[in-house]
Amino acid sequence: MEQKRIGIVTGASSGIGKLLAEGLPSHCEVDEIWAIARSKERLEQLAPALPVPVRAVAMDLTREESLAALGELLHAERPDVRVLINAGGFGVFERFDRISEEDAAGMIDLNCRALTLLMRAVLPYCTRGSTVINIASVAAFQPVPFGAEYAATKAYVLSLSRAVDRELRPRGIRVLAVCPYWTKTAFFDRANGNAVITHFDCMYEPAFIAKKTFAALKKRRDYVVPGFVAKATHAATKLLPHALVMRVFLAQQKLKNK
Ligand SMILES: NC(=O)c1ccc[n+]([C@@H]2O[C@H](COP(=O)([O-])OP(=O)(O)OC[C@H]3O[C@@H](n4cnc5c(N)ncnc54)[C@H](OP(=O)(O)O)[C@@H]3O)[C@@H](O)[C@H]2O)c1
Repeated sequence: MEQKRIGIVTGASSGIGKLLAEGLPSHCEVDEIWAIARSKERLEQLAPALPVPVRAVAMDLTREESLAALGELLHAERPDVRVLINAGGFGVFERFDRISEEDAAGMIDLNCRALTLLMRAVLPYCTRGSTVINIASVAAFQPVPFGAEYAATKAYVLSLSRAVDRELRPRGIRVLAVCPYWTKTAFFDRANGNAVITHFDCMYEPAFIAKKTFAALKKRRDYVVPGFVAKATHAATKLLPHALVMRVFLAQQKLKNK
């Protein structure tokens, strides 16, 4: 039996991950997509829009048994994983000590731990030409007060992705980190529930982030920052002292005395 070529997309039920899952068959040769998120219903809604079968794998990636189940599925099917997209993630914008313990642990569990363990689980099934796409954030480039932990998780994603990309080059496997700026998704329902962030100078569409992600696959880069405002912010974090960058952010968000 011929080995099935698959794409695995976490966070496929919504926002950036959903758009990446929908665009995947046009950009990568896959016979099937494994779409992962907690909401089975929303994952199943993906199928009619796609020219390849979608397997809805509903699971909470912060749970140990979910990662084990995914490992078993891979072991049973032994697919050729052409693409892994880690787009499952969440953030909370709030003063560090006011974030619930559940969210504080959850951000690390989902954004860092699940992403890392998923990469490790999938790599034995990757071959020359396979790609891992990890969604980081422009928050990866600087410390972000009132988004401190979220930004730290994204700095982890960026650093991990770039270094592992170098390690995997001899095997012809690539890791691309994507660093979006503010993007119009359900992310903010959870991230900004207390309306801590008040100033959005620019809000990108998730379709734009997906388009730039696929375009970046054609270039030999290990990370991409989609959009002009995002690139300008990235440049500022490279050129200016981070103390100044944080002061400007606090002033913009009127967060000084919070
Ligand atoms: N929106 C922005 O401004 C922005 C900017 C930079 C980076 N990002 C990053 O982009 C990625 C995608 O976010 P988005 O903006 O597209 O937000 P989103 O629409 O809220 O999507 C988040 C996805 O993660 C899934 N998810 C959440 N918790 C999960 C869990 N415990 N287990 C499994 N799946 C889970 C959600 O599905 P279920 O709820 O069904 O589980 C959903 O599919 C995230 O890593 C985010 O940090 C977003």
